[in-house]
Parts: sequence; C-alpha cells; structure tokens
Amino acid sequence: MSRAVVILGAQWGDEGKGKIVDSLTDKADVVARFQGGHNAGHTVVINDEKFVLHLIPSGILHSGKLCLIGNGVVINPEALIEEMEGLEKRGVKLNGSLRISKSAHLIMPYHIAIEREKEALKGNRKIGTTGRGIGPAYMDKMARTGIRVADLYYPDVFRDKLQANLKDLNYILDNLYRTETFDVEDIYSEYMGYAEKLKGYIDDTDILVNRTLDEGGNVLFEGAQGTLLDIDHGTYPYVTSSSATAGGACTGLGVGPTRIDAVLGVAKAYTTRVGGGPFTTEIHDAVGEKIRERGGEFGATTGRPRRCGWLDMVVLRHAVRINGLAGLVLTKLDILDGFDTIKVCFGYRYKGKTLEEFPGELPVLEECEPIYREFKGWHESTLGITEFGKLPENARAYIKMIEETLGINIDIISTGQKREDIIKLKEHFK
Ligand code: GDP
Ligand code: IMO
Ligand code: MG
Repeated sequence: MSRAVVILGAQWGDEGKGKIVDSLTDKADVVARFQGGHNAGHTVVINDEKFVLHLIPSGILHSGKLCLIGNGVVINPEALIEEMEGLEKRGVKLNGSLRISKSAHLIMPYHIAIEREKEALKGNRKIGTTGRGIGPAYMDKMARTGIRVADLYYPDVFRDKLQANLKDLNYILDNLYRTETFDVEDIYSEYMGYAEKLKGYIDDTDILVNRTLDEGGNVLFEGAQGTLLDIDHGTYPYVTSSSATAGGACTGLGVGPTRIDAVLGVAKAYTTRVGGGPFTTEIHDAVGEKIRERGGEFGATTGRPRRCGWLDMVVLRHAVRINGLAGLVLTKLDILDGFDTIKVCFGYRYKGKTLEEFPGELPVLEECEPIYREFKGWHESTLGITEFGKLPENARAYIKMIEETLGINIDIISTGQKREDIIKLKEHFK
C-alpha cells in the first residue's frame, strides 16, 4: 500500500520542516518539493554536521531516495547549481537521486531587480522579502509570460521569450525606476550555460510521483514557508507568492487530492516570523530576546533575526482548517526549557470583542491583541529526549493542552536539532 504524506509549515515558516522531512525519509521512496524557491532554508543536522537546503528536498541526505523539484517551484538555476555543487563537495550523490520538473518556472535576473525596486518604494509597508525574485517570478508565471525549465532546451523559444519580456521590462527599469537595464544576449548565454549543467536532471516529475504511488511506494511532499505565508490563506500582502498550504502539494507536483493520505503541519512550541507583517503574539521584551538566543532564531537563508512570540492557537486553528491537518508535529520543545511560565494565546481581542478564528482582513488583524492563558513551565532539560514518558510533567501537560485545544494529535515531537532528537508517537509510513 502506497502512502502519500504532506509535511508543511503551520505558522510563518522555519518551523523545522527540513529536520522532520529528513527524519521521515528513511521510510519514503520519493521526497518532493512542491512550491517556493530558494527563499526557503531547511536545516538538517546529522552528527554535528549542518546542512541547509534551499531548493533540493531535505530527503537528499539519505542515499537511494528519489528527490524531486516539482513544477510548483520557481528555480534560480545559478542558486540550484551552487547548492548541487555544495552538496557534491560534501559527498552527497545527486546523480540518479535528483530530478527537476520541466514545467517549473525560472527566476531570471530581472525578477530580482524588479523586486528590489518595488520593495524600495514601499517604505514602512515593505514585505521584507528575501530578495530572491520569488514574487516577480510567480507574477510572470500567472501572467503567462514566464520562462520554464523546458524552454532552456529550445534555445530559439528561450531567446524569443526573453526578448519579449525585456522589451517591457527594460523600459520600466529605465524610465520608471531609473536603474540599469538587461541585455538579451548576456542573459541568453548565461542561461544556456546553466542548461548544459542541468540537462541530465530534467524530467516529468508528475509522472515519477504518480508512478511511485501506482507501484506501492511512499512519497513525502515537502512544503516550504508556512500556512500564514500562503498567497491565499496567509497574512496577505505580507506573504510569499506561492501556495504553501496543502492544495499546493497537488498543483505543485501534479498529484490528485484523492491520492494524499495525510497532511501533517509542523509548528514550533512557540512562534516566529521573519520579515514584515502582523504578528499578534510577538514578544517585544527580554523574554523574546531569550527565545531568540536559545532557539538560534536567525534566518537560515538571509541571517535576519527572527521575530519571536508565544504559541498562537488562533493561528494553529486556522492551519488545521485550511490544510485539513491529520496531525501536528511540534518542534523546538527544548527551547522552552527553563521558563517559569509559558503563555499561550487562545483568542484575539478586537475592539472589545473576542475573536476565536483568524481574521482574514489585515486592518482587523493589525489591531488584534492576544488573549493569553499562562501555563507552568519546566526546568528540566528536554533536549534529545526520545520517549514521551521521559518528558517533564509540565511539558507533557503543555502538549496535551495543545492537542485538546486543536482537536488533533501531536504525532511527532522534536527535542533538538539532530536527526535522532525526536519522539515519534505515530508512524506515517508502513
Ligand atoms: P524549516 O525552514 O522549517 O526547515 O526550518 P529552519 O531550518 O529554517 O529553522 C529551524 C531551526 O531550528 C534550524 O536551525 C533547525 O536545526 C532547528 N531545529 C529544528 N527542530 C529543532 C528542535 O526540536 N530543537 C532545536 N533546538 N532546534 C531545532
Ligand atoms: P522556509 O521554507 C520564513 C518570508 C520572507 C518575507 C515573505 C516574502 O525556510 O520556512 P519572499 O522572498 O518569499 O517573497 O518573502 O516571506 N519567507 C520566509 N519566512 N521561512 C521561509 O521559508 C520563508 N520564505 C519566505 O521573510 O517575509
Ligand atoms: Mg527555514
């Protein structure tokens, strides 16, 4: 019996998806990324050696697994090649393990330029993007002017599309933003070089995933970013430009929703966010600083300090609903060791009213105040614990409280950075 399990972020990204995907890969045949680009940074720690994956699925560190970059991903070929070479230098074999969708869209140098200019104009309404050209690449995809991986292998088509795009874009860069323009031939020759390097890896990834399921194999779908950064269901416009929620796994890989067996949401035992936008449970004092320091909360991609806050049940309820979560994965429990009290938000106060569900409108969300309940913390270390029964009583109570509030189980608890720092309460693959 095949199984298809989706792992995605239940908060604002950086929940520890990479670590969880790595630790579930031993029983998977295929690990596939379905959206986002190299704005993602997924950390895996094996025997004190740290790997940060950006585009390549976090299953790549297990040999003999097929890792796919799906059609829903946007690819900067330069960044991808750099990541591939970095892994190969560290002894990770990619040949035969990595396949890249022909239909994935390419990030072009002008996407990065236009994002920089647009962000600069936003002033204090900046999204705080990763500056990787993600938004403009998805804009071109939706506008039907995007250039796809397959186009790299039809040089005339590639040049024609590039020429057409630069005609508009150079005019805007020159006349509106008064910045440097791009040359067709420069980009053409740069990208033909990438085409040559990537040519052995290009495939129909939709066929590979469906065939694996037809043959009884297990597939792990790896999301990037998180539910609150989703283009439809996140804190728009302070979001990324892709579908980071469960539906994105289907469209981003070409798999029907009827084939998905389970969707697991990954959440930290607290909350973080990088970049701009509302964050109701953000902590602005020394407690937030303590979580940031203890949790090493600095971006894996940009190095920016992450904003830190308490666990937010309003956010998690939203994530359970939007994704149809079958279970939760709770990470970084060990970071909460040593707090006398831990706060958890159960609702929002808005103009004297109590909201229990996440408000879709930004002006409402921006004015919400968290309604907290306080729980007793624990002073024992939970680092590296692998059995639920060995957790301190108050940590067990914290976990039970989350399960009861959300009405779903916590299937996996992560108690440290390393692969083996994990409590598995349920097996998702046979
Ligand atoms: P992702 O983007 O969701 O894959 O998460 P990131 O890799 O960006 O950020 C998660 C960070 O937390 C990384 O540095 C991980 O090594 C680390 N991490 C993951 N799980 C745990 C955990 O249970 N405890 C601790 N202390 N660190 C963890
Ligand atoms: P992983 O997969 C956390 C944030 C950026 C910014 C917003 C839009 O590691 O969890 P973008 O460059 O995507 O247009 O930026 O989204 N962001 C992330 N935050 N984790 C990520 O990925 C993120 N990818 C993008 O900080 O606020
Ligand atoms: Mg990350």
